[in-house]
Amino acid sequence: MSGFDESWLTLREPYDHRARSGPVEDAVKGWAAGRPMVRVLDLGGGTGSNLRRLAPALPMPQRWTILDHDEALLAAIPARLSRWAADRDATLSGGRIAGGGLDIEVAALRCDLTGDLPLAGHDLVTGSALLDLVSAGWADRLMDSVGQAQFWTLNVDGRVEWSPGDPDDDQVMELVRRHQCGDKGFGPALGGQAIDHMEAGLRKRGATVTTGQSDWVLGPGDEAIQRALLVGYADAATAVESDEAVERWRKRRLSWIEAGRSGLIVGHCDLFAC
Ligand SMILES: C[S@@+](CC[C@H](N)C(=O)[O-])C[C@H]1O[C@@H](n2cnc3c(N)ncnc32)[C@H](O)[C@@H]1O
Repeated sequence: MSGFDESWLTLREPYDHRARSGPVEDAVKGWAAGRPMVRVLDLGGGTGSNLRRLAPALPMPQRWTILDHDEALLAAIPARLSRWAADRDATLSGGRIAGGGLDIEVAALRCDLTGDLPLAGHDLVTGSALLDLVSAGWADRLMDSVGQAQFWTLNVDGRVEWSPGDPDDDQVMELVRRHQCGDKGFGPALGGQAIDHMEAGLRKRGATVTTGQSDWVLGPGDEAIQRALLVGYADAATAVESDEAVERWRKRRLSWIEAGRSGLIVGHCDLFAC
């Protein structure tokens, strides 16, 4: 169990897919163009959301290896991919998705990313909603060891804009940002600094880097994810500093969500480098 349960990953998946940066995805497609096949290593792959968004955008046969340390998430992958394939007139059988223009071999393996990464034999190393969890030291080791193209999508960049505004938004969100920088198993997390750190480090190492925003833009109709984010933010803020003002803020914001008059932009950033 990693703290990222399947229901949260399922709730966020359509928002993640919609938010992805077009220019960064175009850079991935440009890199892949003309290759007879692409072997993809997906770090912290959860239930396979990254594959479900990226694989159909690449026209060639693919071999995906999804790594995660959470057995419950890995166990959910076959059923999730099977339903996804069926929606595209394809079938998943023996670890291969075939039909509907797709030809994808998939392996899902348990792996703790804080240990050695099995990078060899892959053309593209990727991760969705991962890099804001890692430390600067882990990111530096990653950049030193990944010689392949790399694609990091849906990394929070620290921007959160609620509407309507509340006088306590800034104070609560500052506590949330401090919580995001706590240790998530990799040492003190980069949080909203992840993409700036990676972009600077990759350029220093001579890579060509493309970045672009991949914000969630939530409004009336997106109550379920706004409620889930509100609970997560309030819990995170309270974990940093117990303050009754946070609970009052949560209640005010919840009433606006329930009334269908709440909006929220959560800033994210994507990066491709080769
Ligand atoms: C925010 S979730 C994103 C999951 C998936 N990439 C997606 O976009 O739906 C972060 C993922 O990283 C995984 N993770 C966190 N720490 C890890 C570690 N030390 N080793 C392997 N996976 C880890 C979690 O289990 C979780 O699946």
